Amino acid sequence: MAAYEFVDHAYDVVVVGAGGSGLRAALGAAQQGLKVACVTKVFPTRSHTVAAQGGISASLGNMGEDDWRWHMYDTVKGSDWLGDQDAIEYLVKEAPKAVYELEHWGVPFSRTDDGKIYQRAFGGMTRNYGEGPVQRTCAAADRTGHAILHTLYGQSVRREVEFFIEYFALDLIMDGGACTGVTAWKLDDGTLHRFRAKLVILATGGYGRAYFSATSAHTCTGDGNAMVLRAGLPLQDMEFVQFHPTGIYGAGCLITEGARGEGGYLTNSEGERFMERYAPSAKDLASRDVVSRSMTVEIREGRGVGPNKDHIFLHLDHLDPAVLHERLPGISESARIFAGVDVTKAPIPVLPTVHYNMGGIPTNYHGEVLTKVGDNADTVVPGLMAVGEAACVSVHGANRLGSNSLIDLVVFGRAAGLRAGEIVDKASAVPNAPAAATDGHLARFDRFRHASGDTPTAELRLRMQRAMQSDAAVFRTGKTLEEGVGKLRDIHAAGADLKTVDRGLIWNTDLVETLEYDNLIDQALVTIEGALNRKESRGAHAREDYPDRDDAHWMKHTLTWKRPGEQVAIDYRPVHAYTLTDEIAYIAPKARVY
Ligand code: FUM
Repeated sequence: MAAYEFVDHAYDVVVVGAGGSGLRAALGAAQQGLKVACVTKVFPTRSHTVAAQGGISASLGNMGEDDWRWHMYDTVKGSDWLGDQDAIEYLVKEAPKAVYELEHWGVPFSRTDDGKIYQRAFGGMTRNYGEGPVQRTCAAADRTGHAILHTLYGQSVRREVEFFIEYFALDLIMDGGACTGVTAWKLDDGTLHRFRAKLVILATGGYGRAYFSATSAHTCTGDGNAMVLRAGLPLQDMEFVQFHPTGIYGAGCLITEGARGEGGYLTNSEGERFMERYAPSAKDLASRDVVSRSMTVEIREGRGVGPNKDHIFLHLDHLDPAVLHERLPGISESARIFAGVDVTKAPIPVLPTVHYNMGGIPTNYHGEVLTKVGDNADTVVPGLMAVGEAACVSVHGANRLGSNSLIDLVVFGRAAGLRAGEIVDKASAVPNAPAAATDGHLARFDRFRHASGDTPTAELRLRMQRAMQSDAAVFRTGKTLEEGVGKLRDIHAAGADLKTVDRGLIWNTDLVETLEYDNLIDQALVTIEGALNRKESRGAHAREDYPDRDDAHWMKHTLTWKRPGEQVAIDYRPVHAYTLTDEIAYIAPKARVY
């Protein structure tokens, strides 16, 4: 488009996103001697990884015996057998090494009395294949993500990753089925940029903000996922959305699962520790899907707390104030600020709140993006990788265990950097980007910049968030999902009437929010259509009309496409029912016992 000109850049590798996975991938690629750019819409240390609290899982065995095989069993079981077992083996085996690497780079982990990395109990993490809880989650008090993110940023700068900060990524440059770069808008001066690259790594995080109440930052709009959809590529398992049991009632801010790991427990209006009924063995440390559903049932059956009986209490008031001060200072502060509660004296009002997307961009365990061509659902898309919450490796399957996210970021960020070293030819020329490959990016940008309908972005965003919150919730039925699909299709169509008011290019937050909304609505659609399509209950996807897991028909990944101007299309990809090595056998599905 003649109205816009690009500032041109050429790199071996361009990473989009500067959270834990993006930084780990960027510095990993730089360690391979590649010229690396990192393009990010917020300052790196403000990326959402900074909000991760409880910790990072690895079978270090600092607090008692542990084994990566037990970690693998828990992760497979936690995933409700939808996780790819080759990728899970890679994750859990590499985990200890990845944590020690972080320690050596300077992450200030909490310590045991004998100076080892402190580890706490987390939901679903067990000893000896489910025998009892194990302390596997390595913690820096309750600010683990903060500590990791700052360390990785420092290490990336040290390795001369070039940062492009407050650049909003627009679209992938695709040429003949391969990715050859990405376009972006520089928010502080309004210029447009074309980053040509031999390899693009998407590390753009999740899309929690498709919902009304989420622990996710407002920046979590899944921009990379949406770029992948617009490029005609599929997303995987989007129907699996995790609700964290303990978001602060009303505010949605996270109260770490580490609080229950340190001995906290939940009660209903009768003062009952109700998790003992739902999960007699794991109790309050059952996996998140189980705890969120149990809390929802308690509230539905009239045993919620508060004047409207619409939430649950989390007790820490029985714990030693010194422990709270040392291990949980961050959430003690959050509870004071957002709920007016002194945790040493009173319980915190909590409610299940959207926290994590198990689904995302399908990849193999090297981080390479996959699509389905003919019968081959493991076809690699040249020039494109994805890591972190944006990706679906799939190690979390239908439900992620707490603290398996931070380890996913660093293990697969590192794997992507290593793979980049193998597949990127330093001596070759950086691909050109024909104008035809970017005209559509500019047309979309210009259309929203000059949108002159009658409906403000905020109105459509609120309708989308409310529909997702009520119709793609902890419990789902065919009826609510059908209603939700209808609502979301209408909301999507109403986008033709969008109105933006700021026509400028510098710090145009109206346009940023509109581009983000447009990214979110496509992901909301594939999420709810995928949920309607999956006629079983598995992990975080709890269908009241199909209460059982149905391995015969549904032990498969959902692939969803939403090409511009088209309806959602659905197909499937087989679960990798095999391990990576013969050091552990395939873990066959079992009925779930808590
Ligand atoms: O509860 C938490 O600290 C969250 C951890 C996670 O989602 O992995």
